Amino acid sequence: MSIRPLLAAIQRIQPASFAEIIAAGNAGAAQPHAIHSLASVADLTPDLRGAIRVGEHTIFLSATPTANGKSIEPVPATLSSPLAGQVAVVSGAASGLGLGVACGLYRAGACVLFTDVDAAGLQAIATRLADPARVHTAVVDVTNEASVAAGFDAALHRWGRVDCIACCAGVAPAFPLEDFPLDKWELSLRINLTGYFLFGREAARIMKAQGHGGSMVLLSSKSGLEPSKANTAYNATKAGELHMARGWALELGREGIRVNCIAPGNVFEGSKIWNPAYIAAAAKKKGIQPDEVIPYYIGLTALNRDIKPDDIANAAVFLASDAARCVTGQVLVVDGGQVWTR
Ligand SMILES: NC(=O)c1ccc[n+]([C@@H]2O[C@H](COP(=O)([O-])OP(=O)(O)OC[C@H]3O[C@@H](n4cnc5c(N)ncnc54)[C@H](O)[C@@H]3O)[C@@H](O)[C@H]2O)c1
Repeated sequence: MSIRPLLAAIQRIQPASFAEIIAAGNAGAAQPHAIHSLASVADLTPDLRGAIRVGEHTIFLSATPTANGKSIEPVPATLSSPLAGQVAVVSGAASGLGLGVACGLYRAGACVLFTDVDAAGLQAIATRLADPARVHTAVVDVTNEASVAAGFDAALHRWGRVDCIACCAGVAPAFPLEDFPLDKWELSLRINLTGYFLFGREAARIMKAQGHGGSMVLLSSKSGLEPSKANTAYNATKAGELHMARGWALELGREGIRVNCIAPGNVFEGSKIWNPAYIAAAAKKKGIQPDEVIPYYIGLTALNRDIKPDDIANAAVFLASDAARCVTGQVLVVDGGQVWTR
């Protein structure tokens, strides 16, 4: 049993506060008592700040993120800070678009939990950003229920709340239909659909309990709108993500939780999907040389423009921010003008 109900109670009393767990007791049996204690503390001091003991737990409450119970100066946001005071959890954040999106949310002022199965990649990011007040990492396998729950718990222990998620962990094994291996099909379903489902379900549980809304951004693809050739599993799962998000937007709207998708075009920079084997397969499919693949795809866009992870990050920041407060159930296509279906 976790201390989630306690943190949710704090959020309902003080929606803008950060709560860092400095010392957690055995949460299970102590839960009702802890929440009762919180209620009596809150009655006495409506503006809770500093270290408080609630039941067996010691919690540091602050208006800004802290690290190990100490107010340390976070690295300033380099853009304007539309996401200051928010906590975001991002999957697939060690590489490619997930890394770009997570860094974009961070630059926009959010505290960001970078999650991925790639532990070394996560460690390198934490070292590079060097901002323990606003950057934390957790190894999370999105296909594993317990792993996803533990990842969200890490964000809650660190900051006491979750305001935003971005689902980015994805794979794209591509084969002609008649050669498509069953295990690659099943892997795609597990990561691209089950992974998004588990991430969204965990976020919905937390956001509903907190009671002050939130935002979910699901990275789909232009292939979710218009299929690409010899890409059965990717087409199916990316279209599935779009419709899953629409359903969630409908289901969670009354709780103030907005759910939107981004449909990127082809993004090459930093992407491990676009590895040499994938580029070779794309070359074969198009009847061109491997070194012609990237210029070929850029040439398919109306803008003739190389789409960068930062372009996708900018869309995610908009969708997570209050500027998009009336936007839900939508697909924001960031493809330089390539598909014309929405
Ligand atoms: N690159 C593109 O052209 C493009 C275009 C449209 C959409 N997308 C979407 O963007 C997302 C990221 O793609 P990318 O090109 O950056 O790929 P990438 O391979 O560079 O990054 C994917 C990340 O997901 C992680 N991952 C894989 N399995 C995981 C699991 N079970 N649990 C947690 N993490 C896991 C990987 O370790 C990796 O860090 C995908 O959802 C993809 O569909 C990419």
